[in-house]
Amino acid sequence: MNVYPILKPLLFKLDAEKAHDLTLNSLKRAEQLGLLALAGRHLADQPKKVMGLNFPNPVGLAAGLDKNAMVIDGMAALGFGFVEVGTVTPRAQPGNPQPRLFRLPEAHAIINRFGFNNKGVDHLIQNVKAAKFKGILGINIGKNFDTPNERAAEDYLTCMRKVYAHASYITVNISSPNTKNLRALQEKDALSQLLATLKAEQNILSQVHGKYVPVTLKIAPDLTTEQVEEIAGLLMQHRIDGVIATNTTLARDAVAGLQHAEEAGGLSGAPVRDSATQVIRTLSASLQNSLPIIGVGGILSGEDAKEKIEAGASLVQLYSGLIYKGPQLIKDCRRALL
Ligand code: FNR
Repeated sequence: MNVYPILKPLLFKLDAEKAHDLTLNSLKRAEQLGLLALAGRHLADQPKKVMGLNFPNPVGLAAGLDKNAMVIDGMAALGFGFVEVGTVTPRAQPGNPQPRLFRLPEAHAIINRFGFNNKGVDHLIQNVKAAKFKGILGINIGKNFDTPNERAAEDYLTCMRKVYAHASYITVNISSPNTKNLRALQEKDALSQLLATLKAEQNILSQVHGKYVPVTLKIAPDLTTEQVEEIAGLLMQHRIDGVIATNTTLARDAVAGLQHAEEAGGLSGAPVRDSATQVIRTLSASLQNSLPIIGVGGILSGEDAKEKIEAGASLVQLYSGLIYKGPQLIKDCRRALL
């Protein structure tokens, strides 16, 4: 039963972050009461092997909604083929002061400047261990806000070592606009060095744990074609396992004049759709199938999901579309990708 059309106007009356917290807490409660067992389960599997992993369907939850891995089982029950939790940092941090989450309903968009609010990697691992979920779990890692970029690699290594045993794949997030200078890690020399460090660690950890956990890089939509091509070259050179395109955008042209359009932060939802798709096309042309692309940004319908796959993505992820369309969107995307 699709109850979201009834819930949405109520949630949209609340402050955006309150609605977000209420939704996650309600999902957690429903999970505890065993109410989710039947949700999202009436579509057949659509298996797809990507990065050596068997995805039951190609539609996943994007990072940032379940930052602390609090509702993995609830999310899985909604019908996602994979769930990405985080971004998590080595130490807990509060993020930016509120308000820091804004809806732009006329544009089917969201602006957030959360700034990696999270309870730290150890807490996330406790939650992952407590979950029943046996499906594909991505763990998205970042750096603490007060770690300088010169020492960013240490934060990624700390998280990587801690999450390795618990993740199906690990996402290295260097594309949040809400951690000062984080996106500078996308620049050629810094990125090459970071990827080399992470690849070396992945090799060590795969020996230690006797399992190979793929590493993906999540990039921004605000990159020139040349920058995307350069990143593609580095991904191949360092044998990174996948790329997630894209994170939120700093651009505001598509929302100019709307309430909240001038709030600082990353813009997501419909206005980022085309730039994300363009990054996927450029990646796809450069990578020539040497590594897979996970497409995310502005998917609000099955057609949008299909467009990402046609642009070269192997899998897709959803975030803002869930706020505007509810869990029905997962089914719509799965159907469109049958
Ligand atoms: C995000 N996103 C995000 N990404 C990430 O890698 N780590 C994070 O912690 C977050 N946090 C976050 C919070 C909020 C409120 C939003 C709306 C988004 C980015 C998200 O995963 C996705 O890449 C973009 O939002 C684009 O997809 P949608 O939202 O247009 O489907």
